[in-house]
Amino acid sequence: MFYFIIRKIMKSTFFLFLLSACTLFFSSCTAPSPSDDASRRVEALLKRMTLEEKIAQMNQVNYLGNEEAAREAVRAGAGSVLNPIAFANVPLPDVKAVNELQRIAIEETRLGIPIITGRDVIHGFRTIMPIPLGQAASFNPELVKQGARVAAKEARASGVHVTFAPMLDISRDPRWGRIAESFGEDTYLTSVMGEAMVKGFQTDNLKDSTAVGATVKHFIGYGAAEGGRDYNSTSLTPLTLRNVYMPPFKKAVEAGAVSVMNSFNDNDGIPMTGNKYLLRDVLRDEWGFKGFVVTDWNSAGEMLQHGFAKDSADVARIAVNAGVDLEMNSATFVNNLKTLVETGQVSEKDIDDAVRNILRVKFEMGLFEHPYFDEQTMKKLYLCPEHLAVAHESAVESAVLLKNEGNILPFGKAVKKIAIIGPMAHQPHEQLGTWTLDGSRRAVVTPLKAFQDDKSYEVLYESGLKYSRDRDRSNFAKVKQTVLAADVAVVFVGEEAQLSGEAHSLANLDLVGAQTELLAAVKSTGKPVVMVVMTGRPLTIGKNLKDADAVFYCFHPGTMGGSAIHDLLTGKANPSGKLPVTFVEEVGQIPLYYNHNNTGRPSKPITKSILYDIPQYDLQNSAGYVSMYLDAPTEPLFPFGYGLSYSRFTYSDLQLSAAVMTMDGNITASVKVTNDSTVDGTEIVQLYIRDKVGSIVRPVKELKGFQRVRLKGGESRQVEFTLSPDDLAFYGIDHTYKAEPGEFELWIGTNSKEGLQTSFTLTK
Ligand code: NOJ
Repeated sequence: MFYFIIRKIMKSTFFLFLLSACTLFFSSCTAPSPSDDASRRVEALLKRMTLEEKIAQMNQVNYLGNEEAAREAVRAGAGSVLNPIAFANVPLPDVKAVNELQRIAIEETRLGIPIITGRDVIHGFRTIMPIPLGQAASFNPELVKQGARVAAKEARASGVHVTFAPMLDISRDPRWGRIAESFGEDTYLTSVMGEAMVKGFQTDNLKDSTAVGATVKHFIGYGAAEGGRDYNSTSLTPLTLRNVYMPPFKKAVEAGAVSVMNSFNDNDGIPMTGNKYLLRDVLRDEWGFKGFVVTDWNSAGEMLQHGFAKDSADVARIAVNAGVDLEMNSATFVNNLKTLVETGQVSEKDIDDAVRNILRVKFEMGLFEHPYFDEQTMKKLYLCPEHLAVAHESAVESAVLLKNEGNILPFGKAVKKIAIIGPMAHQPHEQLGTWTLDGSRRAVVTPLKAFQDDKSYEVLYESGLKYSRDRDRSNFAKVKQTVLAADVAVVFVGEEAQLSGEAHSLANLDLVGAQTELLAAVKSTGKPVVMVVMTGRPLTIGKNLKDADAVFYCFHPGTMGGSAIHDLLTGKANPSGKLPVTFVEEVGQIPLYYNHNNTGRPSKPITKSILYDIPQYDLQNSAGYVSMYLDAPTEPLFPFGYGLSYSRFTYSDLQLSAAVMTMDGNITASVKVTNDSTVDGTEIVQLYIRDKVGSIVRPVKELKGFQRVRLKGGESRQVEFTLSPDDLAFYGIDHTYKAEPGEFELWIGTNSKEGLQTSFTLTK
């Protein structure tokens, strides 16, 4: 009976009316999402575009040094302009000129499509944060995000829509100059930092007037350049690409990065500008990337030098078919695509897709509604106290304390007179580091300045060497006199910005010039010596350690580097930074990274060469047939994750919530961390795992989590990490991504070498 009544109601006209009214009501409540809106607008615009107009959108022209030609290109419909501004020789960037380019695009082209501008804003714009390798040492994604926010605000106000950052290349080779621009050797750390930087640049709302679109680069494998020589070929296997090099890019794409830049290198013979499998099948089809792919600077044209394309038309054909959308700084697209389409070598559908990808970003960033830059806001933003505070905190958290014998740091009350020595003590431009096109030199606080401004100390200054490569020792006698008159010497050594970065690789990583001798001369005075190293990469400083009681490693620390170092040395701040990359004892050990595979014949840990320790005929037997060098250690100078504090942290009570993890469950690992000192401090607690048996060999350790834990002197805290099968997954022998059941080891500790250990099992 009840069933009968219900059926009657459902058949009635009134019911049908009610149903459609409800549907209408609810559908009007779910407004189209902005990206749907953008897609609709893209399609409408695309329909109105000629083939020439579409091809022009795929052209990114360089403005600086090429101004008139760039304006002409915009008049002809070029979709994007790179380097629309510069600080060189001007007090403020010429935002009016950028707006003029935009005016040409809007008023002098048939469809009035706004240009999108791009510039390398890598670790700050006017206010400069530490280089990315330094920011990685902070193990503080929130701070990285704040740094990117500062950069985005200053850059957007100056005429920049999109930055060419973050660089997410895994770097296991300190000879490679661009390690400076990376987050180091670890896939997980790079993924976390990359995501934070993307969010900092873009905010959650691309239409925000302070948002800058992020370009993740260089897709892919660029950091594995053979021999660490920039631009060099790579030979990464599909599984290494999947498990080591790709995850940070995938994470950044998921975080919404608007653009991806392909890399210069050829991998296994295929230049990345022409790698259809990676650009289309992986990036687009698998990962669902919706932004645009931009070439690196002339990387399209360079396929000629590679010997992968025979002429400029061939370059354009290969690049567009592979899935490139926007050509940076070479003109093979504008010169050839029309003919290539007409002759059927490139499909108009691929051109349409490329233009869709570019236009969608322009719509999503709101450029059609707000194409012009405000010419007034930049002045208020540059180097404002809030921005300088972020730069200061970032420099503090990026510094890594490597040695502190006899706890000579922080300076005690007895220290009144400080001898500041060394070529890096007062080099405003150099401490900014590589890639600081628009950074202010005048605002830089050098270590010398920071100490001179602190009236509680008397500062004696003698640089000893004019610059890092200086080999003139004639001032060393004066240096010694100066040190003898002080209570402590702080020696600032390292390398200038130009010794690292793009195209600046090194085959030798010792301190350059006479810096080693300078340090030894200072040590010979018998005074306590603090060595502060400012560089763009890990150097082989093993031989210098004996000449320093304490060592701080500061990857080029940016605008506020000097005040940060001052605060760290004087105890106003407590170091917490940890190395984002392994430090080698000597160059011949490279590549040496903590998350390597085991060989079938692993060596026991060896900390020095055995070459001269063994009698003439015993060498082979004593060493054993294991994987090692006879004349170099197997161990690093300092391992990944290493860094000291003025506090003393101890670890105890490692526990797991269960000994078994199921495929649909998780386990929690907890450890008690105690600040066993009277000094408040922050410890970066690190969790590593090892998958003991896999369908492919798994690394001996892999970082899977970290937490910054602030503890007062004497305080203890239980620190917890939750792991799920997804954290254990990898691409295995069948090239699918999954966790494999079996035994896992787990460590929680203070770096990648030390830690409490336990194990668990993952079951089916
Ligand atoms: C070449 C570099 O490899 C890339 O990282 C950079 O963004 C472009 N030049 C543009 O300056």
